[in-house]
Amino acid sequence: MNEANDFLWWKHGVICEIWPRSFYDANGDGSGDLQGITRKLDYLAELGIDGIWLGPVNKSPMVDSGYDVADYRSIDPIYGTMADFEQLLAEAHRRKIHIIMDLVVNHTSDQHAWFKESRSSRDNPKRDWYIWHDGKKGGAPSNWQALVGGSVWQWDKATKQYYLHSFLKTQPDLNWRNPAVSQEIYATMRFWLDKGVDGFRCDILNYFLKDEQLRDNPWSLSAGIFNGFQKHLYSRGQPGMEAILRQMRAVLDEYKERMMVGEVYVAQDGPAMAAAFMGKGDLCHLSFEFSLLFTKWDAARFKEMIKRWYSVLPEEGWPCNVLSNHDQPRAVTRYAAAPDTQKRARVMAAFLLTLRGTPFLYYGEEIGMPDSPIKRSDVMDTIGKMYWPIVKGRDGERNPMQWDAGKFAGFSAVKPWLPLNADYSAVNVEVQDKEPSSVLNFYRKLTALRRAQPALQKGGFEWIESDKDLIAYRRTWQDNEITIILNFSGSSRAHKIDAGLPLKVLLGTHRDSGSPVDKGPLAVYPYEVLALGA
Ligand code: NOJ
Repeated sequence: MNEANDFLWWKHGVICEIWPRSFYDANGDGSGDLQGITRKLDYLAELGIDGIWLGPVNKSPMVDSGYDVADYRSIDPIYGTMADFEQLLAEAHRRKIHIIMDLVVNHTSDQHAWFKESRSSRDNPKRDWYIWHDGKKGGAPSNWQALVGGSVWQWDKATKQYYLHSFLKTQPDLNWRNPAVSQEIYATMRFWLDKGVDGFRCDILNYFLKDEQLRDNPWSLSAGIFNGFQKHLYSRGQPGMEAILRQMRAVLDEYKERMMVGEVYVAQDGPAMAAAFMGKGDLCHLSFEFSLLFTKWDAARFKEMIKRWYSVLPEEGWPCNVLSNHDQPRAVTRYAAAPDTQKRARVMAAFLLTLRGTPFLYYGEEIGMPDSPIKRSDVMDTIGKMYWPIVKGRDGERNPMQWDAGKFAGFSAVKPWLPLNADYSAVNVEVQDKEPSSVLNFYRKLTALRRAQPALQKGGFEWIESDKDLIAYRRTWQDNEITIILNFSGSSRAHKIDAGLPLKVLLGTHRDSGSPVDKGPLAVYPYEVLALGA
């Protein structure tokens, strides 16, 4: 913690998720890489972010885009070398940008040396590093369904047992009940922390522990296709996780100002579970709550979800907020059909950056970039390959960043690994940089406002009563008080300002900064954003 102003980067700052393959291609092979990210650090610094969550970059056969790690202490050649990684880290730190890595340790790739050993024979010392079982009554050991459909159990002909995979069959689950596994993972965490990495985004923490008795899950139509139509009572989320999180936290606490943010997959499990992974603020520093990624554009719904999220948080916990990531269509694609796209993007930006909690942006969100349309022949994501056209996969939201109007959007000198958006000549960094009212410049102003106003970084939060299409709240830190009013509708809405002190616009979409806003009735313009202060 910086004693001078007690700014804690992961708590008071802004974090941006970068999908490494799609940010910037420095070596001209059509795929983004680490050197590409390094080259764009000045852009990120200017955007006003304090941290990067770097999508998975360890060596991987890329069956699940790097969420299938073949070697935890390496960098995949697609992205560059360890030296490139170290350079990125040093250059980011020079700009006060922190870097957290994806820690994907519920499972490995089946190409990991540990799994190759484990499957080589029943008495291999690494056998028990994974979850192997005999069949039951001539079939799989339990009825558990993988998140991507089908049984979690895969028959291994050579050793005549089944191994467990919560995701793809090429992603065997590690056996977290084996201390040799956990110790090795903690050592891996230290390996990266020693390099100076600022922490981890921990993949699917709620899957680590499974029922030891392998009890069957109850079937349930309402659980939906992505839960294999069953309630996952026994196949995930079993007691004992707190002790593991405590150990992971202890590793981080051996270092200064490091953090972990937990992913609890998927939304159906709800915010209470996400909150539980923070303990009393002594387990995960942050934990993702994904409800906003699954709801429609509706101020009342948004408000209800944030209320619920705040209400389940432990007193010592700290929220983080997210509108987009690499697993769901981008927020502007979900919510913002033309012609309101850019207007809605500004409202979302203000919402995300002024709520209580750490905002996680997803690269491209700052220019209001939508998903790319994906044809069958473009599909890279295995989920899309398996389930097309019912499920088209996650390639759309993992699309190349739109830097300029050039041939390949300034992303690469050659055809990018995924298709570009048709609109990139209009929606790109170069164009928006020059346009004062662009979404990009609005994001920059919002991050600057957060930095200038402690109430937005760390202040208390109080709802202000409003029309159902508006969301209004007050953030307060000592005598710093900021009022936020957001109009989620395309028509104007009445609001009543009843502040004690005279207010003025600190930042807005429709009124000049500095202009006074009087006590009494106020007509809020369609999609207007207002940040008011004394
Ligand atoms: C969650 C990640 O966000 C997703 O992209 C991945 O496929 C699964 N975990 C499996 O690791």
